Amino acid sequence: MKQIQDHYFYKAKKDGYVARSVYKLQEIDQKYHLLAKRNRVLDLGCSPGSWLQYAAKQVGKKGEVVGIDLSVVSLKLPENVSVVQADIFDYPFQEEFDYPFDVILSDMAPKTTGVKSVDAQRACNLCERALHIASHHLKPAGVLLVKAFQGGPFEQLRRNFQQQYSRVKVYKPKSSRQESVEIFLLGLQKK
Ligand SMILES: C[S@@+](CC[C@H](N)C(=O)[O-])C[C@H]1O[C@@H](n2cnc3c(N)ncnc32)[C@H](O)[C@@H]1O
Repeated sequence: MKQIQDHYFYKAKKDGYVARSVYKLQEIDQKYHLLAKRNRVLDLGCSPGSWLQYAAKQVGKKGEVVGIDLSVVSLKLPENVSVVQADIFDYPFQEEFDYPFDVILSDMAPKTTGVKSVDAQRACNLCERALHIASHHLKPAGVLLVKAFQGGPFEQLRRNFQQQYSRVKVYKPKSSRQESVEIFLLGLQKK
C-alpha cells in the first residue's frame, strides 16, 4: 500500500498504528458511533491492519474482530482479532460464519490502472460485494461502512445502499486527501 508521508503518517507512527488510514475510521466512528464494546466486527481488506488495531480497542476484550485480505497481515494483533488471507470474491462466508456481525467495514481498494472509469468500476465491484456479504452476515439494524470512489457507478451504489439501510450517509474524512476520489458510504440500521 502506498503511504503518504504527511501529518497523519507521522501521527500514526507516534500512536502505534501501522497505517494512516486509521484516522479515517476513527473520525467516522467518532461522528456516527459505529463501534461499541462487545461488538463482533468484520473488516474486509484489512491489511496492513490499522483498522483492526482500532476496532479491537473499541470492541474491547469481550468483542471480536475478524479481518480478511488478499495480503498477509504481519502485525502482532490482540487476542480478540483473527485474520484470514483470502479473496473476498472466493471466500466461503456462508460456511465459515454461522452467526452475524454487528458491524462490517470495508477499506478495500482495487489494483488501479490509471483509467478512471475502469478503476471506479473495480472499486464499485468491491463495494457491491461488501453490500452482498452484509446482506447475509450483518445483523438487522447493523452498520456497513465502505470506501467507494466518486463518479461513475457511485450513484447507483448509493441507491443500492438505500434499499437495504434505513439511513445512508456519504462522508469524506479530513484525513482523506482532498485530491483523492475516495469517499465513504455508510449504511446505518440495516433493514
Ligand atoms: C487501503 S488497504 C486497507 C488498509 C486497512 N484498512 C488498514 O487500515 O490497514 C486496501 C486493502 O484491500 C485489499 N483488497 C483488495 N481487493 C481485495 C479482495 N478482492 N479481497 C480481499 N482483500 C482485498 C488489498 O489487498 C489491500 O490490503
